This record gives sequence, structure tokens and C-alpha cells, in this order.
Amino acid sequence: MARQLEKTVGSGSRALTILKDLNVEIHAGESVAIVGSSGAGKSTLLALLAGLDTLTRGELSLFGSSLSSLDEDGRARLRAGQVGFVFQNFQLLPTLTALENVLLPLELSDTGIDARQARQWLARVGLEARVQHLPKQLSGGEQQRVAIARAFVTQPTLVFADEPTGNLDRATGGKVADLLFTLNRESGTTLILVTHDPQLAARCDRTLTLENGRLHEGVSAAALHHVPDGVDHQ
Ligand SMILES: Nc1ncnc2c1ncn2[C@@H]1O[C@H](COP(=O)(O)OP(=O)(O)O)[C@@H](O)[C@H]1O
Ligand SMILES: [Mg+2]
Repeated sequence: MARQLEKTVGSGSRALTILKDLNVEIHAGESVAIVGSSGAGKSTLLALLAGLDTLTRGELSLFGSSLSSLDEDGRARLRAGQVGFVFQNFQLLPTLTALENVLLPLELSDTGIDARQARQWLARVGLEARVQHLPKQLSGGEQQRVAIARAFVTQPTLVFADEPTGNLDRATGGKVADLLFTLNRESGTTLILVTHDPQLAARCDRTLTLENGRLHEGVSAAALHHVPDGVDHQ
């Protein structure tokens, strides 16, 4: 839940207000698409909602805990095992194999290392034959499948996906999206998905548009296709 959320970066004449007076409430089990033009602040918003970044003003809570009252370690503990991420550029660790990448969140959470569980997730995303491959030995679609297995392996309550099909061709992106929605439904996770793709957004329970630093319900064609009239430069 966010109330009157503001995010300003830089200071003085270089200050840039990316988000302002932003309000949103997302309930457990919902799938929510966030759309908006490039530069609208979507990635900034996801980082804030996940407690990866700090807000400038307002109130923000995750799983009922106020994020502003927690330090970085406290926010990391709140996330561990409960939050999964899928990024546009996959963000796999290049020196780790597919299996090791999927094991990483288990090592960081209290769940402990369970190679069998990680292998099962790789099988679930269709990569049982690729467990020992390094990211550079995998196609883009395969890398994103590893990233999806990594996001779900801890059985999180909430998954954030930031343009997960943005770096993939249409056919591969479609398959990755199918996988993401299938796992989301089967696992009963809350999904917060940033996308430029109206068809992908339409598969979510609701769509929110980020425009001029604020979120509003629904989608306007303008928000998907036009260059933003921009965030406030103060
Ligand atoms: N730390 C930062 N310092 C300066 N500008 C930033 C910073 N983070 C983001 N921005 C700017 O804020 C705007 C929103 O960025 P972003 O959240 O990445 O947008 P989106 O994901 O919607 O494309 C962009 O103009 C970006 O350049
Ligand atoms: Mg972005």
C-alpha cells in the first residue's frame, strides 16, 4: 500500500521528481499490470514497492509492515523468501550455472539450500537439460525461464516482473508470458507486472497506468504509445 508516495532523485536544481502523490493498494492474490510510457517511472515504482529503494515522502507498506520504519537489513528480511523478481534483462549472475542461479534465493532465505527443489523448478520451466549451463550458453528465452524459476523457487507470496518479455521476440515472449501466468495461477502468488504490451496487461486482473508521477485505474492508449510529457523537473 502506498499513500502520497513521492520519489525525488538528485538535489537542488538537479532534483527530479519521478513519482508524486501516488496512491495504490494491491491485495494478496491479485495480478496487476502497470503500464506507462518509457521513462514514466515504472521501474522506480517497483523498486520502491519492493523495498529495494527508499521513498522521499509518503507512506509505503509491504505485507502490512511499514517500509520506512525498516532499515536496509530489515527490508531485506521482509523480502527474503516472500518476494520474487523477474527483470527485463534477466539479471542472472554470469558466473553461476542455471542451477546455482536458482539456488541463490534459497541460500539467502531461511529455507536453506535444496538442490532437488531448484532442479524441480528448472524442470517446471522446461530446462531440465540445461541445469549446468551458464547464462551466456542460454538463449534469451531460456535465461528468462531460469529467472522465472529463481523468482518462484522460494514459493513467494508476491512476484514483481519488470517488462519480462521486453527483450524477447514476440513468439518467445508469448511463451515466457504463458509460463509466468501459469505459475502465478498455480502458486496463488500476487503478481505486479510492468509491461508495454496491452495484450499482456489484459491478462491481469486489473491495469494501472502510471502518468505524470501518479497511478490511475485503467489504461489509456496514449500512455502505451506516446512519449511522456515528462516528470517534473524542479
Ligand atoms: N537515480 C536516478 N537519478 C536520476 N534520474 C533517474 C534515476 N532513476 C530514474 N531516473 C529517471 O527517472 C525517470 C523514470 O525512470 P524509470 O523508473 O526507469 O522509468 P520506466 O521504468 O517507466 O521507463 C527516467 O527519466 C529516468 O531517467
Ligand atoms: Mg523500466
